Amino acid sequence: MANTSNRNNRPTEQFSRLGFIMAAIGSSVGLGNMWKFPYITGENGGAAFFLLFIVCLVLVGLPVLLAELAIGRSGRASAASAFTRLGGGPLWRGAGLLQVLTPFLILSFYIIVVGWTFHYSILAFSGRLFATSDFGGQFDGFITSYWPIFWQVVAMIAIAWVIAKGVSSGIEKFNKVLLPIMAGLLVLLMVRSITLPGASEGIAFFLRPDFSVLTPESALVALGHAFFSLSLGMGILMTYGAYVDQRQPLGTATVAIGIGDLIYALIAGLIIFPTTFSFGIAPDEGPRLVFIALPAAFSAMPLGWLFGGLFFVLLAIAAITSAVSILEVPVAFAKEQWGWSRTRSAWTVAAICFAFGMPLGLSNGIMPGLVIGERTLFDWIDFITANILLPLMGLLITIFAGFRWKAAAESTGLSQGWLRLWLLALRYVAPILMLLVLLYTSGVLAF
Ligand code: PFF
Repeated sequence: MANTSNRNNRPTEQFSRLGFIMAAIGSSVGLGNMWKFPYITGENGGAAFFLLFIVCLVLVGLPVLLAELAIGRSGRASAASAFTRLGGGPLWRGAGLLQVLTPFLILSFYIIVVGWTFHYSILAFSGRLFATSDFGGQFDGFITSYWPIFWQVVAMIAIAWVIAKGVSSGIEKFNKVLLPIMAGLLVLLMVRSITLPGASEGIAFFLRPDFSVLTPESALVALGHAFFSLSLGMGILMTYGAYVDQRQPLGTATVAIGIGDLIYALIAGLIIFPTTFSFGIAPDEGPRLVFIALPAAFSAMPLGWLFGGLFFVLLAIAAITSAVSILEVPVAFAKEQWGWSRTRSAWTVAAICFAFGMPLGLSNGIMPGLVIGERTLFDWIDFITANILLPLMGLLITIFAGFRWKAAAESTGLSQGWLRLWLLALRYVAPILMLLVLLYTSGVLAF
């Protein structure tokens, strides 16, 4: 495999324009859209929360997204060095390293869930998923077996293989094939779910605005989710930014990515709520929703094995296209830092991440001793990354692009008016809100 960096270890690989937008949407549409977004929307006033989510996306999400892309494209380096290449001092090197460590940690547990989606796809299509009515027991039986480790290996090998193939023949091609399939499955499942008897109640729960249940807490939840949903603070968009053509307008790309993410989230809600409501099942959050509540609903519908199977394939695609994007961050770092080839970097990082992630997978069941306080190792890494490291990285990015990096304005190619708005959001709105999110998610600020 040719080394795809020049002598300064700067990336020379490049996305096509459309390929970049598709890869970024592939990254943003993930488990967050499917198992978190519908639930928190339903809990926080349906369409009222959805509107709040859009406001957060526009006020904070998109400005930070644009900042990450601009830093990445101008720095033309891995997420660890982009800050320093643009004039940041040693402390910014530290922030950069944290920005590589964070995705490594996230991947170590996310890949386990990718493996679960593979297992459940096969289980559904083979009919074995529906051979029981105790879906909770079935899920517990699965995660306390050795099967998750097997699937963790398979999922890790799959993403390492894509990343080893490179930016355009790996990441870009992978997303160009899978994104349309995902869109087709979403629409198909949405049509199935909104035509179920009693679906309208689910649609109403999801989309009827109830402003009375909105609280300041809802705003922080919406903000945190807008951030996670766009894959911000994980070094992904900074790393991808380094592969974007210098002439591609970043503002347009940012808006396209935001709209793409939003549409997928909306459709995911239109699948999940009508389906669960139609069969009188409580729409839970996280694994309980996806691996327990939904199978129960699918089992009760005609051709449930087919729609259930397609649903898990949809979930697997959403998850794996996100996992690919996050592996690229430490891989780009390894290439740059040690001058390794892409192939060597991909397989080495994947192997280390797997080794690190194995105890996390085991902590879910087989080794109940791997629990610290009230959380398993798996839950700890999830908690620390989502609630502390991500908002912290978000805050640092806004500070860097808003105040530290002098050439931020020229780097985006925005027109004067948009530029002013962007800088306003980046300097005054986003940092304050990100700080509030950080205080809230880390438990310092309580309601
Ligand atoms: N936007 C992604 C999601 O909603 O799932 C966030 C993400 C998580 C990206 C984990 C990549 C990843 F490995």
